[in-house]
Amino acid sequence: MKVVLGVSGGIAAYKACELLRLFTESGHEVRVVPTREALKFVGAPTWAALSGNPVSAEVWDDVHEVPHVRIGKQADLVVVAPATADVLARAAHGLAGDLLTNTLLTATCPVVFAPAMHTEMWQHPATRANVETLRERGAVVIDPAVGRLTGADTGPGRLPDPAEIFEVCLRVLRGRPRDLAGCKVVVSAGGTREAIDPVRYLGNRSSGRQGYALARTAVARGAEVTLVAANVTLPDPAGAKVVRVESASELRDAVLAAAADADAVVMAAAVADFRPATRHEAKIKKTDGEPEPIFLAKNPDILAELGTLRREARAAHTRPAAAAQPLPAAADPDPVVAGLEPGGVVPRRERGAYPEVIVGFAAETHDVLANGQAKLARKGCDLLVVNQVGEGLAFGTPDNAATVLVAGGDPVEVPFGPKEALADVVWDLVAARLP
Ligand code: CTP
Repeated sequence: MKVVLGVSGGIAAYKACELLRLFTESGHEVRVVPTREALKFVGAPTWAALSGNPVSAEVWDDVHEVPHVRIGKQADLVVVAPATADVLARAAHGLAGDLLTNTLLTATCPVVFAPAMHTEMWQHPATRANVETLRERGAVVIDPAVGRLTGADTGPGRLPDPAEIFEVCLRVLRGRPRDLAGCKVVVSAGGTREAIDPVRYLGNRSSGRQGYALARTAVARGAEVTLVAANVTLPDPAGAKVVRVESASELRDAVLAAAADADAVVMAAAVADFRPATRHEAKIKKTDGEPEPIFLAKNPDILAELGTLRREARAAHTRPAAAAQPLPAAADPDPVVAGLEPGGVVPRRERGAYPEVIVGFAAETHDVLANGQAKLARKGCDLLVVNQVGEGLAFGTPDNAATVLVAGGDPVEVPFGPKEALADVVWDLVAARLP
């Protein structure tokens, strides 16, 4: 595929070299179009050597080839990384003062912007409006990551990890459906840690890869994603809001808060079922005699709780069919009741307090399907992704195989493959259940 890599003048320009390398190493033909300002950070010889193509910021070079029209028209994808506040503004307003903005005006292919700037600039109403305009026109504008910026300050504005930008671009190139556009989804990932004392904890082997793949694919399909990450060291998925937690109790608070107005919740996190009943304030010291036993207390089952909350909310908003009376025309001013069919369920937008689709994961070491079916029923979720865990299986690996159990439907087998592929199957099933 022909990829145009636009680079604008921010300190993160050097990270675009890594993005360029990811494209070229996977067989894409890349033409780098930097702005004049970008060339102050990374020079043209670097871009030319890494891409194997000529590099210019100006429309006045190689005029006989009409580059200001040709490059954009021939591209399969244009990605601008980093995209400064200035380049976003120029793109939103259709200015064409250099080769990159000309290319953006002539491109008929998908366009991805990966903004990077200081938090104040990203949050400024002018930038917000420009991003909105670009998104309305169909461009993919990845939300910047949160983290350390150029100076000592931190906040939203950091360029997402090049590998994450690359993933978004691949999805755009593959033409993923944006069937989750307008949906809010919550994904939990990683494994909780339950403190024993200030230095020790009870934990598990979950790396968070499957949850991160779910978040990444949901962003690519247009969803607004809150990713509740328990002790994950992977780079933030571009475009997701990441909430970091440590314990099951923190994970519960974060998931329930985000689930309140979400359309779907996917519990991919490995949540500890038990925590030490007492958290020692000081480090437990080694003594000569036998060690003290550690007593355990039960953690809340968050997935089951979500199912219960939803059931209760549905019951509260459902008029029993036997008692159903025709609704008097325009008589009921309560928007919740007004949207109610006799014996029916209030449309989600009006009841708005629990997710439409709840998905659990089950890690099993034996009797995988039987345990999974029992768990699906027990937890009251709509889908349960069951996979076998153990030595070298599922935990920490980039690939996975699973069976997705469907409440009231046939199971869906997902063959061994990348965790992204499994994530896409999950979102296909979720999307089919959303109104
Ligand atoms: N889960 C949860 N809260 C817990 C434990 C698990 O929300 N306290 C969720 C997980 O995120 C996962 C699903 O429940 O989506 C199944 O987790 P799993 O550990 O397989 O199930 P358990 O209920 O813990 O059952 P068991 O350990 O007996 O297999």
